[in-house]
Amino acid sequence: MGIYEKYILPRFLNCACSSKQITHQRKKVTPLAEGKILEVGIGSGLNLPFYNKSKITELWGIDPSKELNIMAKNVAKREELNVNFITSSAEEIPLPDNYFDTVLITYTMCTIPEVIKANNEIRRVLKSDGKLIFCEHGLSPDQNIKKWQNRINKFWSKIAGGCNINRNIPELIKKSGFRVVEIEEMYIPKTPKIAGYNYWGYAISN
Ligand SMILES: C[S@@+](CC[C@H](N)C(=O)[O-])C[C@H]1O[C@@H](n2cnc3c(N)ncnc32)[C@H](O)[C@@H]1O
Repeated sequence: MGIYEKYILPRFLNCACSSKQITHQRKKVTPLAEGKILEVGIGSGLNLPFYNKSKITELWGIDPSKELNIMAKNVAKREELNVNFITSSAEEIPLPDNYFDTVLITYTMCTIPEVIKANNEIRRVLKSDGKLIFCEHGLSPDQNIKKWQNRINKFWSKIAGGCNINRNIPELIKKSGFRVVEIEEMYIPKTPKIAGYNYWGYAISN
């Protein structure tokens, strides 16, 4: 791993994902998580302050980045949250079937290399009536923005730690055997449109 990936990228991601507008989105979804919860791609722990503590039975977080895990552990300590951290990729979640009531995923389906495989794993660890709560940026419905998203995605992905700006989030969720029950979408204010088309809501297993 190079200096950029080890020292600069984790701070860049933490900073880019903590804007006022993105934080506003986090506050819409995170408090909805309940019961046994798994946060996929927990990153630097930016959602941790927004969980409704009274609704948590168990809280787990999975992320392959050791550097981001360290940052998230500090946030968990500050928030007095007992989080079980797993340093691993979501394509293979080392946890049992039918375990979680909620999986929360925010701004991570853009980055997971094999996202359908990961979503299948999420479905496996969720109980049959469990909820996948998501808040993700992705493909814009506007032709002009979509064109630019596709044009610059390769370059973007290189500097942004593998983040893709042109993934069709609702399609990816459906292709992984989920049914989207609620979804809202909009451009996040004061954010470049190519990276700011946001989808949030929840899905259940088909
Ligand atoms: C843009 S960051 C978002 C972090 C956090 N979810 C948030 O909302 O701030 C993308 C995250 O995806 C994680 N990630 C990358 N590949 C992954 C994988 N295969 N499985 C799970 N998480 C992954 C990264 O380590 C990083 O924490």
